[in-house]
Amino acid sequence: MPTIRQYRPEDRQGVIEVWKNAGLIRPQNDPSRDIDRKLAYDPEGFLVAEEQGKVIGVVMAGYEGHRGWLQYLGVDPAHQGNRIGRQLVEAAVELLRQRGAPKVNLQIRTTNAKVIAFYEHLGFRLDEVASMGLRLVEDEISTQ
Ligand SMILES: CC(C)(COP(=O)(O)OP(=O)(O)OC[C@H]1O[C@@H](n2cnc3c(N)ncnc32)[C@H](O)[C@@H]1OP(=O)(O)O)[C@@H](O)C(=O)NCCC(=O)NCCS
Repeated sequence: MPTIRQYRPEDRQGVIEVWKNAGLIRPQNDPSRDIDRKLAYDPEGFLVAEEQGKVIGVVMAGYEGHRGWLQYLGVDPAHQGNRIGRQLVEAAVELLRQRGAPKVNLQIRTTNAKVIAFYEHLGFRLDEVASMGLRLVEDEISTQ
């Protein structure tokens, strides 16, 4: 059984590996800078699943005063299907509940239909909204 706990400094490479293996890294997102930003702003909302000293799953939870958000959920493919994604989501949702968030939102790439079914299985429902963004910082492409 994995332990779900807060991110520690020694987890950085393991977290990036999980995101890479789970297909979550995009050229416009430098994962190391994403980790730094989360740690600077809200380290308690950064959770990992650890098993035998290895990071095998990751999620970021955040609350901005109106909605709770889940981001960057990923489980290493070798460990998928073992309820680790469920445990990470449940821990993150509990954290957001304790912080007082009245609703939890998340964004899924439209190409990632499988994950919609996963979240629906956990009780989430599709909202009739369009998601929009405005980039403020251009990250360098990371080859790490
Ligand atoms: C999505 C992801 C995190 C799921 O993690 P996982 O550990 O494999 O999932 P779990 O084993 O915890 O599944 C939890 C439950 O959801 C169900 N489930 C999983 N995938 C499902 C799917 N595609 N459709 C329906 N149910 C699904 C499981 O059967 C399980 O049910 P149960 O707990 O009631 O028995 C993992 O597949 C992943 O890392 N995907 C790639 C990265 C990604 O796309 N992340 C999301 C970015 S928005």
